[in-house]
Amino acid sequence: MKTRLTTRFDLRYPIVSAPMAGAAGGALATAVTHAGGFGFIGGGYSDPDWIAAEFANAGNAAVGCGFITWKLAEGPGGGVPLVASVLKRKPRALFFSFGDFAPFMPLAKDAGVPVMAQVQTVAQARQAADMGADVIVAQGGEAGGHGATRGTMSLVPEVVDAVGARAIILAAGGIADGRGLAAALMLGADGVLIGSRLWASAEALVPQGFHAAAVTASGDDTARTSLPDIARGLDWPAPYTIRTLRSDWVKRFEEVEGGPATPDARSAYAAAMAAGDAANAAAIVGEAVGLIRDIRPAGQIVEEIGQTAQGLLTAAAKGNE
Ligand SMILES: Cc1cc2nc3c(=O)[nH]c(=O)nc-3n(C[C@H](O)[C@H](O)[C@H](O)COP(=O)(O)O)c2cc1C
Repeated sequence: MKTRLTTRFDLRYPIVSAPMAGAAGGALATAVTHAGGFGFIGGGYSDPDWIAAEFANAGNAAVGCGFITWKLAEGPGGGVPLVASVLKRKPRALFFSFGDFAPFMPLAKDAGVPVMAQVQTVAQARQAADMGADVIVAQGGEAGGHGATRGTMSLVPEVVDAVGARAIILAAGGIADGRGLAAALMLGADGVLIGSRLWASAEALVPQGFHAAAVTASGDDTARTSLPDIARGLDWPAPYTIRTLRSDWVKRFEEVEGGPATPDARSAYAAAMAAGDAANAAAIVGEAVGLIRDIRPAGQIVEEIGQTAQGLLTAAAKGNE
């Protein structure tokens, strides 16, 4: 499959794995890269030791590293020392989401490392292009994890029209099979960023209980909420909320004023998240969960999505002959 993304990074498939905080370690990133996609380590909330350990797990594989930008900027030295230390590992790219990445751009440029920026609006896409992002990811609200409200279907082509001449464009949010990849390419994207489907892989750092809940869930069973962030004491800026399974825990705290803010509620949530207790936690996954029926090695998932999309696009082209 040939797109501007595959040409730029020498990929077999135009598939990038999302830098999912905590879930996307070196093993997942490596598996995606080895299958001909582009794998990312999820640097998330900027724990330098975790990031170092996951780069070690990735060995010599060409993988990138993602950051939650507002959290990064709150760290020592405004996050600059951490980004500089990651750049020394020669990542395949850096990935910034949820905040202003301007302070980090010169570091990446000086190191010759490409930058991917995830956005939720057309206005943000223009800003990212102005700042020199090499790849812009247009993320719809269907996505698992943090995001905003626009839907993938119209956001992607609008971003393509607005800044596609200045950057490579990826679609994100709700893409979990070959149909989704083919559709994203038809919308004008150069590839896709996949989170939820690869969260449901053998290599993802996800407790078994969450995987078990995901394979039986429908996309109807998710919600965008702030409850997990309240329970974790994370001060996420507006307009971002997090999409998770709408578990019994979510339903219970939807009724509680102030949410799970007490010390007891917080520690119970942390314990349930660590144990993979799906009913008493909030497994972080998107609407695409309804397309996930098994947990498989990530390489197989990438291969199948790529091959299916290729087949669909070839069949469609033949139909038009
Ligand atoms: C478990 C999980 C954790 C995530 N963590 C992050 C993160 O730390 N940084 C980030 O930029 N995006 C994160 N995301 C969002 C992804 O980057 C991506 O936009 C999303 O997964 C795409 O939609 P999909 O889940 O439908 O594939 C996360 C998504 C999931 C499912």
